[in-house]
Amino acid sequence: MLINVVFLLLFKIKVMEFTLDNNLPEYPTFVEGIRRAPDRGYTLTPGQTKIALKNALRYIPKELHEKLAPEFMEELSTRGRIYGYRFRPQGDLKAKPIDEYKGKCIEGRAFQVMIDNNLCFDIALYPYELVTYGETGQVCQNWMQYRLIKKYLQELTQDQTLVLESGHPLGLFKSRPDAPRVIITNAMMVGMFDNQEDWHTAMQLGVANYGQMTAGGWMYIGPQGIVHGTFNTLLNAGRLKLGIPQDGDLRGHLFVSSGLGGMSGAQSKAAEISGAAGIIAEVDMSRIETRHRQGWVNHITEDKTEAFKIARDAMARREPCSIAYHGNIVDLLEYAVDKNEKIELLSDQTSCHAVYDGGYCPVQLSFAERTRMLHEDPRKFRELVDESLHRHFAAIKGLVAAGTYFFDYGNSFMKAVFDAGVTEIACDGDVKNGFIWPSYVEDIMGPQLFDYGYGPFRWVCLSGKHEDLVKTDHAAMDCIDVNRRGQDLDNYNWIRDAEKNNLVVGTQARILYQDAIGRLKIALRFNEMVRNKEVGPIMLGRDHHDVSGTDSPFRETANIKDGSNIMADMAVQCFAGNCARGMSLVSLHNGGGVGIGKAINGGFGMVCDGSKRVDDILRSAMTWDVMSGVARRSWARNEHALETAEEFNKTNGDMYHITIPYVADDELVNRVVKSKE
Ligand SMILES: NC(=O)c1ccc[n+]([C@@H]2O[C@H](COP(=O)([O-])OP(=O)(O)OC[C@H]3O[C@@H](n4cnc5c(N)ncnc54)[C@H](O)[C@@H]3O)[C@@H](O)[C@H]2O)c1
Repeated sequence: MLINVVFLLLFKIKVMEFTLDNNLPEYPTFVEGIRRAPDRGYTLTPGQTKIALKNALRYIPKELHEKLAPEFMEELSTRGRIYGYRFRPQGDLKAKPIDEYKGKCIEGRAFQVMIDNNLCFDIALYPYELVTYGETGQVCQNWMQYRLIKKYLQELTQDQTLVLESGHPLGLFKSRPDAPRVIITNAMMVGMFDNQEDWHTAMQLGVANYGQMTAGGWMYIGPQGIVHGTFNTLLNAGRLKLGIPQDGDLRGHLFVSSGLGGMSGAQSKAAEISGAAGIIAEVDMSRIETRHRQGWVNHITEDKTEAFKIARDAMARREPCSIAYHGNIVDLLEYAVDKNEKIELLSDQTSCHAVYDGGYCPVQLSFAERTRMLHEDPRKFRELVDESLHRHFAAIKGLVAAGTYFFDYGNSFMKAVFDAGVTEIACDGDVKNGFIWPSYVEDIMGPQLFDYGYGPFRWVCLSGKHEDLVKTDHAAMDCIDVNRRGQDLDNYNWIRDAEKNNLVVGTQARILYQDAIGRLKIALRFNEMVRNKEVGPIMLGRDHHDVSGTDSPFRETANIKDGSNIMADMAVQCFAGNCARGMSLVSLHNGGGVGIGKAINGGFGMVCDGSKRVDDILRSAMTWDVMSGVARRSWARNEHALETAEEFNKTNGDMYHITIPYVADDELVNRVVKSKE
């Protein structure tokens, strides 16, 4: 007991070193050309402002309060947040190989790699504001938290768990080696306050963080993370709507969308990999240049006629091609309607989950004007966004009437259009009944992938060595049985070509859609490779946009039709089960890709250190992580999930059993209901 007290005191003094440090870092210089987040809007009352300042000053030694209080006040009033810029380390935070980080356990060092990767200039959307992607998705709220988190990760041992609440490191707590090393929650608001306005206040107060999905869960791996999902979606959309055979691709077909940002930047690359001609509208030239430099988009034009001409020429030659149209998507679509340009596949990936926070640029404004108006006149900005969404809707409606297949790609676009006043976009005018156009999960991702358990498994080679990535690609390829299902063949082709497609931005990472069987097989193989010293340590994880981790009626669970799409039990159970089984990092967030109050999403990170302990955790946790979602989808009577769950019961009956529903006969139910009408 006495030893514990002494330890705690010593430890406290150590942790307090940061806060007691009187050597105030220099105010940083901001590197020219690095994108900055727009002003998020300061709306606090004087009373709330005092709380916000006191909250931020909690991280700061008292003798520095006099100096920092005005600085924080200035940040809050001009940027709508206290980021604590002064505490950001200078320069680019590029992730280093794991061995170069300090730490008392491998997980503590591994998570520092992940955090820095989420915040480096190549990856982060607004590196200075800790935004990784999705306009508002932050690693944590401010740079004081960043410093403190890093310090804790350096001290973390295998007998402790670091707890983070909305970016704030609550502290280290004693646990055990097979418990999570880090547990993260972000913006988990109490129901009654679970709305955009209260969240905006809470962010300004410094008590909420918008973690998006893998930003606040530290598992973002750059736009590659979504390329595979977009590739799967496009290919399957082609199969479903354009009659592309299972072994064919999208050569000769046109895909149009918008956004070349954090995740949306994947669209041009995925279009090319799937063989299509893709035109992607983007209002911000700097994002186009980033993707062009990476080789993820071939052509840039400001001319709509030219954009369609380049695409049509490539289609005629049956060559893949990607074009960035520098301009507003609404302009491009209105042009297509006017000129009768036929678009086969159409989507949108502007940040509509944060539509009034700068995520969607209204067609009436240039990108620079949008940034200015957000700061100067947010009310007017809102009006313009609504007007633009009305025009956007009208253009899509015209194109759909001419034969276009439009699908919502998980950015809350249709909900934003509805909120802007276009009630006809909801079935019978009520969003609870869904929308008149499908979400990609309803038509494609849900039935073809999630219901079988296929989802965005990923890994990061923590050594930073490219050769490790190549070895893991090959090992993963060996684990796939191409004769099992069409999806396995698609996944095999993806990983076979991954190196050639030059997908890595940031750390040496890979995404590969896999089901429960595939994920476990690959995970165990990787841990064995680490054990045999064939490769350095590996971080396993996944996007939150997956089979089990996310309850989101407008996205991941859009194809759940038993009424439970408004429940978040699955995501919470998935999180709890992963904690109980000892994944290295477990996270649960509000919002994600669709916005506050519209989704609960969670994910994990698992460090393969080659140990038997990790093998044991993988065996139970990887299976749980996928099959808990398949079980729920099967209970919702989703056909492919039912098949998968039944098969799972047969092959794993010694240890597992999923409850299988009796599926009522439609004819019987219709007859009984009709008799009561
Ligand atoms: N379907 C999925 O799997 C999936 C995955 C991740 C993210 N998302 C969602 O997709 C959206 C985009 O994510 P992101 O990370 O790319 O965000 P982002 O903010 O980095 O990128 C969006 C881009 O759209 C551009 N833009 C905004 N309005 C425009 C307009 N009217 N015309 C043309 N360009 C415009 C912006 O300049 C920006 O570059 C988010 O809502 C996100 O939640 C979906």
